Amino acid sequence: MSDQTTVVLRTASPADASAIANVYVESWGTTYRGLIPAPVLDGMRVLKQTLDWWTTLCHCQPGRGAVVAEDGAGEVFGFASFGAARQRQEPGCGEIYTLYLLADRQGRGIGSRLLLLAAQRMAASGYRSLAVWALSDNPACAFYERLGGVVADRRTITLGGVRLLETCYLWPELQQLAIRLQPAPFGEETGRRS
Ligand SMILES: CC(C)(COP(=O)(O)OP(=O)(O)OC[C@H]1O[C@@H](n2cnc3c(N)ncnc32)[C@H](O)[C@@H]1OP(=O)(O)O)[C@@H](O)C(=O)NCCC(=O)NCCS
Repeated sequence: MSDQTTVVLRTASPADASAIANVYVESWGTTYRGLIPAPVLDGMRVLKQTLDWWTTLCHCQPGRGAVVAEDGAGEVFGFASFGAARQRQEPGCGEIYTLYLLADRQGRGIGSRLLLLAAQRMAASGYRSLAVWALSDNPACAFYERLGGVVADRRTITLGGVRLLETCYLWPELQQLAIRLQPAPFGEETGRRS
C-alpha cells in the first residue's frame, strides 16, 4: 500500500507521461460521468493519452509545462499543466490547461498546492495573470471561486455531439493568487507533508 502521508510536488518529465495519462483518464471518468457523453469517456485510452502527454512533456520550456504530485511510494496521483493562454487577449496571461487529482486524493489541499506551483512557474517566466476554463457544471468551479478566480468569460464547446458550457476564471494578478494560496515567496519548488 502506498504512503499517502508524504507528498512531493515536482516538475513533470517525459518519464511521467504514462502516470499522468493514467490520472487523466481515471479522473475524467470520475469527474465527468453524467456531464460529458459516456462514449467520449469510454473511448479514452491510456496508451493514446500516454503518447500525447509524452509529446507535450518533450516540448516543455520555461513557463510551459507540467507539475506532478507524487506520494511516498513515488506514485503520481495528480498533476497540472500550464502555458500561454490560448484564448484570452490580455498580454502576459497564462493558463492552467489541466488540473486533476485521483478522486481519493482530493480535498486535502493538494490541488491548491499544484495550482500554486504552476502559478509560481508562470510568474517566474513573466506571466502576470492567469486563466482557467472549467465545465460550468463541474464542482471544481467552486474550487476556483474559493481561490479568488473571477468569472471572466463563457463559451460553448462540443464534445461527443453535445454542446457544453464552459466558464473562464481569471486571476488578473498572478501574484495575488500565490499570496492567497500560501504566503511564501515565488521560487519555492518542492512541498512535503508528513
Ligand atoms: C478541483 C481539484 C483540483 C481541487 O483540488 P483539491 O485538492 O481537491 O482541493 P483543495 O483541497 O486544495 O481545496 C482548496 C479549497 O477549495 C475548496 N474546494 C475544493 N473543491 C471544492 C468543491 N468541489 N466544492 C467546493 N469547494 C471546494 C476546499 O474546500 C478548499 O477550501 P478551504 O481553503 O476553505 O478549505 C480536485 O478536486 C480535482 O482534481 N477534481 C476533479 C478534477 C477536476 O474537476 N479538475 C478541474 C478541471 S477544470
